[in-house]
Amino acid sequence: MARSAILNVMVQAAMKAGRSLARDFGEVQNLQVSLKGPGDYVSQADRKAEEIIYTELSRARPGYSFLMEERGAVEGEDDQHRWIVDPLDGTTNFLHGLPIFSISIALERQGQLVAGVIYNPAMDELYTAERGGGAFLNDRRLRVAARSKLSDAVIGTGIPHLGRGHHGNYLVELRNVMGETAGVRRLGSAALDLAYVAAGRMDGFWEEPLSPWDVAAGILMIREAGGFVSDKQGGNNMLENGTIVAGNELIHRALLKTLKKPVTSR
Ligand code: IPD
Ligand code: CA
Ligand code: CA
Repeated sequence: MARSAILNVMVQAAMKAGRSLARDFGEVQNLQVSLKGPGDYVSQADRKAEEIIYTELSRARPGYSFLMEERGAVEGEDDQHRWIVDPLDGTTNFLHGLPIFSISIALERQGQLVAGVIYNPAMDELYTAERGGGAFLNDRRLRVAARSKLSDAVIGTGIPHLGRGHHGNYLVELRNVMGETAGVRRLGSAALDLAYVAAGRMDGFWEEPLSPWDVAAGILMIREAGGFVSDKQGGNNMLENGTIVAGNELIHRALLKTLKKPVTSR
């Protein structure tokens, strides 16, 4: 598979940061048993990965703007291009030695997502997508799953936790989705969840609240794999309002409908 120059830049940055995260992940597994735990070590690993990505991308395309989880917004001379980066998505998993975490890098051109990379260093799985060029897992072209009924579908989600999200509203949504589907999964890395929907491993996904760096690359990935992504209202403001619903056309539509239902008695 031939990649464009810009996608190559993104892949190089993600793989380099991925090697750094993979080394640190090995150490985190050792630190689990220490009294202090691996907390500080993980924040350092996160910042180190972000630094690598920032350096690589700035060197390859000087002047592009950034939106990064740790560094925040960095205005470049070129306001037509913006990198949206999560250097470590799935921090809680990483901290606990669970090998489900990723690096997510997206490129926006004039406000439109044009390229995305999601990399899971622990499994060496590299997801790439370019607008109009399809989505890939390593060299394999991706297609969303074809299941048409919610009753056959496995749906991913993010469960709000201490200090995050509206727990009562979420429980109503979960209750409705669990009553209509073949199963619900909570993997702990929203970027990977979306990559898995693109790869047909999960039939759909919903979560809120999420940040732009959690979802930017994944949105393009799913669309390029033939899937549908919207916010909870069915609109295209996922980066602005932090809600997301995804699947193939039918599952996406059915999931949107189920999420709007009031609580059922079952
Ligand atoms: C988190 C992960 C998680 C999602 C959270 C995110 P982080 O990102 O994507 O799956 O449920 O809402 O904040 O903090 O690990 O980068
Ligand atoms: Ca994240
Ligand atoms: Ca993060």
